[in-house]
Amino acid sequence: MEFIDLKKQYRLYQEELEEAALRVLRSGRYILGPEVKELEEKLASFVGTKYAIGTSSGTDALLLILKALELGPQDAVITTPFTFVATAEVIRRVGARVIFADIDPETFLLTPETVSEALEKARQKGYQVRAVVAVSLFGLPAYLPELETFCDREGLWLIEDACQSLGAECAGRRSGSFGVASATSFFPAKPLGAYGDAGMVFTDDEGLAQKIKALRVHGQTERYLHQHQGLNARLDTLQAALLLVKFKHFSRELELRQEVAKRYRELLKDLPVEFQQVPEECYSVYAQFTLRVTKRDELANFLSEKGIPTAIHYPRPLHLQPAFEDLGYAQGELREAERLAQEVISLPMHPFLSKEDQEKIAAAIAAFYQEAL
Ligand SMILES: Cc1ncc(COP(=O)(O)O)c(C=O)c1O
Repeated sequence: MEFIDLKKQYRLYQEELEEAALRVLRSGRYILGPEVKELEEKLASFVGTKYAIGTSSGTDALLLILKALELGPQDAVITTPFTFVATAEVIRRVGARVIFADIDPETFLLTPETVSEALEKARQKGYQVRAVVAVSLFGLPAYLPELETFCDREGLWLIEDACQSLGAECAGRRSGSFGVASATSFFPAKPLGAYGDAGMVFTDDEGLAQKIKALRVHGQTERYLHQHQGLNARLDTLQAALLLVKFKHFSRELELRQEVAKRYRELLKDLPVEFQQVPEECYSVYAQFTLRVTKRDELANFLSEKGIPTAIHYPRPLHLQPAFEDLGYAQGELREAERLAQEVISLPMHPFLSKEDQEKIAAAIAAFYQEAL
């Protein structure tokens, strides 16, 4: 059993994918070829923003947004400690201070309340907070309308880290369409995955879109004219062509993800596990199917012995990572994030997970708790 079965997915679309790759190889247009523009247009329309800019990764998409907003050493940015490291890493890359806010234990996400608390403390310490990066973790974009209102009121930019949530929705709007701009990732294991690294920025702001387009090609606005200090952060034509093929099947895959998640909820409902709560107005794409459990590490070992792969997203919250040590956070300061880090476990999750495999996983979890409790 695979945690995410990318080989199975490849076999399903093999002919179309190989045709698309060959077309690019034969075309000679490897950098910013027509497939990049086509993908940008299709995804902007899918997400519901005016602009989409293809990038070399989700990390670079986030970095480009922060650079385009000109955030720097004089600024502070609030984010969650319960995320993949890239979210906070890019804030430091532009020299800004990272302020971690705690999360809601049921949705695992920042809320206006936890952000407000962190904002107040940061302002008391004299930090100039300019933005909030909210992560739609495991595919769930909850609280974004409320965070948008909150950020507007406080004069902050809201940026959505939608690296795990392309296709998800909240209050009738797609993930990627909230705030000033958002970033997604096409890392192979993401809901819409490429065959290598790739990402995208979404925004409605024309000025920001133009600047990000320039920043991804060394700040170049016209040939030989470098208006900004940029970087090389373009989306490869080859990846765009492969993503266009996968995007054709994306809606169907999202439906299959819902079915798999629904079946997990049904199979596990009487067991001593807690699910990530999906508020009524939200639609998660279940980039991960993550549970809160007791005896997490023992459960992971038990499942592994039975040939069931699991993953821990994330075993150490960012405020307790060595790379962020200098920020001075102590153990116990962000309790919910710390508790989650001890209790979460992600189960195999992909659109092609069979009913039989899910039944096997549920039976193994039941057997573990029968013995353990
Ligand atoms: C929440 C989050 N932010 C940022 C990233 C960075 O994306 P990438 O791996 O494409 O650089 C990822 C994915 O890896 C992610 O899960």
